[in-house]
Formats: sequence, C-alpha cells, structure tokens
Amino acid sequence: MNRARATVRVKVPPPGPRARRWAAFHTAVAAPATYQEGFIWDRTAPAIGPFCTDADGNILLDFASHVGTAALGYNHPVLLEEAARCAAVDPDRYCGTDFIGAAGPDPKRPTIPTPAHLQHKLLEITAPFGFGRAFLSNSGAEAVENAIKCCYAARPAARYAVTFDGAFHGRTLGALSLNRSKAVHRAFFPQIPQVLSLPFCTCSAACRCGWEEADGTSRFSRLLDPEAGLVQAEEVAFIIFEPVQGEGGYRVPRKAFLQELARLAREHAIPLIADEIQSGMGRTGRWWAVEHFGVKPDLMTVGKALRVGATVGRADLFPAEGSRMGGTWAEGNALSTAVGYRTIEVIEREGLLQNASRMGERLLAGVRDLAKRHSFVVDTRGLGLMAAIETDTRARRDRVLEAALARGLVLLGCGLKAIRFLPPLDVTEREIGMALDLLDKALRDAA
Ligand SMILES: Cc1ncc(COP(=O)(O)O)c(C=O)c1O
Repeated sequence: MNRARATVRVKVPPPGPRARRWAAFHTAVAAPATYQEGFIWDRTAPAIGPFCTDADGNILLDFASHVGTAALGYNHPVLLEEAARCAAVDPDRYCGTDFIGAAGPDPKRPTIPTPAHLQHKLLEITAPFGFGRAFLSNSGAEAVENAIKCCYAARPAARYAVTFDGAFHGRTLGALSLNRSKAVHRAFFPQIPQVLSLPFCTCSAACRCGWEEADGTSRFSRLLDPEAGLVQAEEVAFIIFEPVQGEGGYRVPRKAFLQELARLAREHAIPLIADEIQSGMGRTGRWWAVEHFGVKPDLMTVGKALRVGATVGRADLFPAEGSRMGGTWAEGNALSTAVGYRTIEVIEREGLLQNASRMGERLLAGVRDLAKRHSFVVDTRGLGLMAAIETDTRARRDRVLEAALARGLVLLGCGLKAIRFLPPLDVTEREIGMALDLLDKALRDAA
C-alpha cells in the first residue's frame, strides 16, 4: 500500500460478514470488554500510516490509532525492522527485575536497544523535570500502581490521595480507586481508602466548577487550610492528575488551575504525579502535555505509545530496597521496550512534535468549522493531536461513530458523549482533509 496515494475504499459497509464472523469467534470465549466490534482490522492485510484493511477487505482511515498505542500508525518501517531483529531472539520477555540483558559488548553501542536504553531515553526526554529514575512495567495501570506505591512508601504517615472529577488511571484495584470518569470502572470493587476528589477545572472564563471561590482561593487551598481544612498537608501522600483528561472526555484544563495545583504541591512538598499515559509521548505537540502548562511533576506515568508502562520521576521517591515494585516481565519486555525506544527516536528524527502541533491546529480548525455547520456539535476542544468534539446526546454520538465507520473512518468515543481524534503523530494534511470530509458526511448522516 502506498501511503501517499492510498484512499478509503468501502466495498461492504463495516461490519461486513467476515468482520462479524471474527467478532463472534472472539467474543464467544473472551471475557466481555469494550470491543469495537464494527472495526476488525485484518493484521495480515496491507496497512500503512493511518490506512488499514479490515476483515472484509475495506480500506479504512484509522484516526483512533488503537487509543494512541499505534502512535506511528501501521507498519512503520523502523518499528518493523526493530521488531524483526528482536524476534530473532527468544525469550522476547525475561525476568527483567532479576536478570539484566546485554546486547553486545558495550552498552554505549548496543546491537538492539535494551530496557535500560529505554530508561535512559525516558530520562533524556523528561530532562526539564530533573528526574533520576525509571521503572518499566506491563501496562499503564501498573505504571500508576508503581507511582502511587512510591509515594506511599516515601510518605508512610500520609494516607490521603487526591484525584479529580473525570479522571481515569486504569483498572487495577489501586488505580481504579482514583477513577472518576465512569461508574463502571469502580462499582462494587474494593478501593484504596481516603481518596479525595477535586474539580478538574476547564473553565475558560470565570470559574464555575467549584475549583475557585469568588475570593480567588482554590478548593485545594481550602482543603489544606491549617485551621479550617479537612486534612493536613502532611497527611496527603500524592496528587494524581491527567494534564489533558483522556477517557473522561479529552478535557483540557485551565492553565491557572494546574499552576495553582503545582504551587500548592510544591509549597507543601506533596508529590505530584502527572499521568501522561494518553497525553504524553508527543501526542499534544510537546513530549509531555504538562509542558504546555508550565508545571513540573515529581513523578510521571507513561504507557500506550511507549508500548510498555513506565514510572519515571525524582530518584528520592523510589524505594531503596528491591522487591517493592513489579516483578517478572516488568523490566524484561525486550521486544516492546526496543520498539518503544525506536518510537522515541522516530519522533525525534522526523520532527513529529512539530508535526503534531501543526496538524493538531489544522484538525482543530477543521472540526471547529464542521461544528458551525452541524448544530448538534456542542463543543470542540483539544491540544495538538489530542482533539475531540462533543455532541448533544450520547445516542447521537454513537450514531456519528457508526456513520463514520460505515464511510470508512475509524473513530472512538470518550467521556459520555464525545468523540476523540488521535491520528498517528506523522499524519499529513491530505489525511486530515480526508478525515474531515468523511466526518462531515457522517455528521450529516447522523443529523
Ligand atoms: C490516562 C490513563 N491512565 C492510565 C491508563 C491505563 O492504562 P492501561 O490500559 O495500559 O492499563 C489509561 C488507559 O486508557 C489512560 O488513558
């Protein structure tokens, strides 16, 4: 498939008969999950950049990138080459917290990048924050687990955690306790105690969400007030936030809100964890979304586009003894860490941060234009290539998603009635134009 000439071609509107057969085969035994049963990518058929072939032979334009995990789209040649090199060695996963893997005589000139190279690279691209340690893991949720464990270990007397309305941090028992986006993630599961929720302020003019009082004081400063507050600052183990909320609806916070949060964290020496699992790795046009807000976290969680989970942060926050964090495959996922390492290199070498900024502006301008023509689009928002539209109702949102897929455009919902756009970081003007055109038609279909 030639990316520069590829076009969307829908022969059988998805899901076609083969897609349905694959979905039925899969869901017959797989535990229920949030399967997008309409879009069944054929992993053996041609695909390049945002274009892929589905089970019925349709050529689709994928602006969901597997929730950003395919940050360089399909079949990027550099990643394919690295994966092939790594696949020639077995085990591709080993017990990496017990055994260190080398790749040739000199770590400065490895034949393949090892987990240690990825950790060095992560410290390089988080240099503005002065981090000193990294720990890899299997998933984003584990990266969150490890970050909060670091904080509980570093502040043994502190038992409160602070999270935000609309937050999503994963589905493991610790991480799910911090979620505030949808009830389904938490309902009836036991949770870590003493988690406080604060408003996630996205107000563009005067604050109406409850974060800021009329007298200018913030909800968090009132919470920590030594006389009238609910908790003492020393009792707070950590604050965790997404610099741009993902699952909760691609909500971009007000700058002053994050700055006030960071100011209070610094003043009271409370560790601040930025969860960059969805917003990081260049998605917003900077390596980390938090950079747009002039905020320095103490710990950061990374995942998705990195292909493994990572907890990165201030060296003094990591427990000194071994056995305190993850085990077995945590650090030993050799193939995925090598692909994650090359992903960072490609983003650097191909100037993809700049591309994400430029193309993000183009995409946002385009969806804003569409919103003027389709009155049920009630909001548009985004930062770089992390953009969304919100429709008037959830049913309408679902109709737009279906109509877009029927026309060959793969999109994903988020929040309760929003649609997110997260194309590959190297998306081109032509591909954005194609997506906007298909979206325009889908919005008309759903009117
Ligand atoms: C911000 C954020 N944190 C954590 C997670 C959990 O990551 P994982 O699904 O890899 O466990 C996600 C996944 O969507 C996420 O978007």
